[in-house]
Amino acid sequence: MLNGLLQTQDIAAVVILIIFFLLVGYRPPWWNRNQNDCRKDIRGIPGPLSLPLLGTRWIYSWLGGYSFSKIHEVYRDLFKKYGPIVKEETLFNIPVISIVERRDIEKVFKSSGKYPVRPPTEAIAHYRQSRPDRYASTGIVNEQGVTWQNLRTGLTTELTSPRTIASFLPQIEQISDDWCNLIRQHRNNQGNIINLKPLAERLGLEATCALVLGRRMGFLLQEDVSETAQQLAEAVHHHFLACRDTFYGLPFWKLWPTKSYNRLAASEDAIYTLALKLIESADEETRESAIFQSVLHAPIDEREKTAAIVDFIAAGIYTLGNSLVFVLYLISKHANCQKKTVRRS
Ligand code: HEM
Repeated sequence: MLNGLLQTQDIAAVVILIIFFLLVGYRPPWWNRNQNDCRKDIRGIPGPLSLPLLGTRWIYSWLGGYSFSKIHEVYRDLFKKYGPIVKEETLFNIPVISIVERRDIEKVFKSSGKYPVRPPTEAIAHYRQSRPDRYASTGIVNEQGVTWQNLRTGLTTELTSPRTIASFLPQIEQISDDWCNLIRQHRNNQGNIINLKPLAERLGLEATCALVLGRRMGFLLQEDVSETAQQLAEAVHHHFLACRDTFYGLPFWKLWPTKSYNRLAASEDAIYTLALKLIESADEETRESAIFQSVLHAPIDEREKTAAIVDFIAAGIYTLGNSLVFVLYLISKHANCQKKTVRRS
C-alpha cells in the first residue's frame, strides 16, 4: 500500500487534498495547541470562509460579488447571515470583528480602558513619520497610548463640548438654508436631484470648515467658488480615495511608493499647505472660533497644531456628507418620519 501511495499520482492527490483543506480553513486540532484562549475564542466567531493569506477579502471579488463602494450592503448581509457578531480576516489573516447591537457597542466602549487601540491609517502614519519637519507625531486620529491621550486632552475639549455645538447652531442654520437653495438650483425639469452625494459633500466641506476655522468658505455657492475652496475640495476627495486604496488594497506601498501612496502623500501635502494658508490668513471671524482658538492655545508642540486642523478637516467632511445622505435616504423611506420632521420644523 505504501508503495502505491508513493506513486506520483497519489502524491499529487495528497498534495491537492492538503491544499484544499488549507484553503477552506480547516486545521487539525494540534495546529493551534500553543495559541492562547483569546485566539481560540476569536476562531469560534462566525463569518465568511477565510482563505490562507487572502483572509475573507475574496468576498470583494467577482467570487463574492461585493464591492468596496457599497460597503453598507456587505455588512447588512453579513449580520443577516452570521448574526450580530461577525468575523472577517484581512490580508495575512488578521481578524477583524464587527458588531451591530447597542449592548455590544456599549460593552466595547466600556472595556476599552485608558488607551483604547484604534487601528491607524498606516499609510498616513508612514507618510507623516517621513516628514518630521512638519509632524511631531502621526496625529490624533492615528496615534496610540500616552501620545494619543495628550493630544486628545489638549485638542478635543472644545470640539466635544455641548457649549461649542450650541453656539454653532445659528451658523449651521444659515448653512442649511444655503444648502436648500443649492438643491433647488440643481433640480432637473421633473424637480428631482439625480445625484445628491456631491451636494452633500459640499455641505460637509462648508460645515466642517465653518466649525473648525470659523469661516464660511463658499462651497455652497452656485458659481464663483474660490480657488482655495476648489483646491481644498479636490485635495480632500483625493485623500479619501487614496486612504481607501492604501487601507483596503494590497500593501505594496510598504515596499515602494505605489500610485495610491503617492496620491495620498500629494493630497496630505495639499491639505497641509492649504490649512497653513488658512491659519496664516486667519481673519476676525476665524480668531473668534472656539475650536480654532483651542487648537492654537493647546499645550502641545507647534507642529501638532496644523496637523490637528488637517485631521479635523479630513475627519469631518465625508463623515458629515455620508451621514446626511443616509439620514435623508432613511427619512425618504419612512413617511411617518417625514411628517414628524415637517411638524417639528
Ligand atoms: C456625522 C459626522 C461624524 C461622524 C459619523 C463621525 C464619526 C466618528 C467615529 C466613528 C470616530 C471614531 C473612530 C475610531 O474609533 O477611531 C470619529 C473620530 C474622530 N472624529 Fe468624527 N465623526 C463625525 C464628524 C466629525 C467632525 C465634524 C469632526 C471635526 C471637526 C470630527 C473629528 C474627529 C476626530 C478628531 C476623531 C478622532 C478622535 C480620536 O481618535 O481621539 N468628526 N468620528
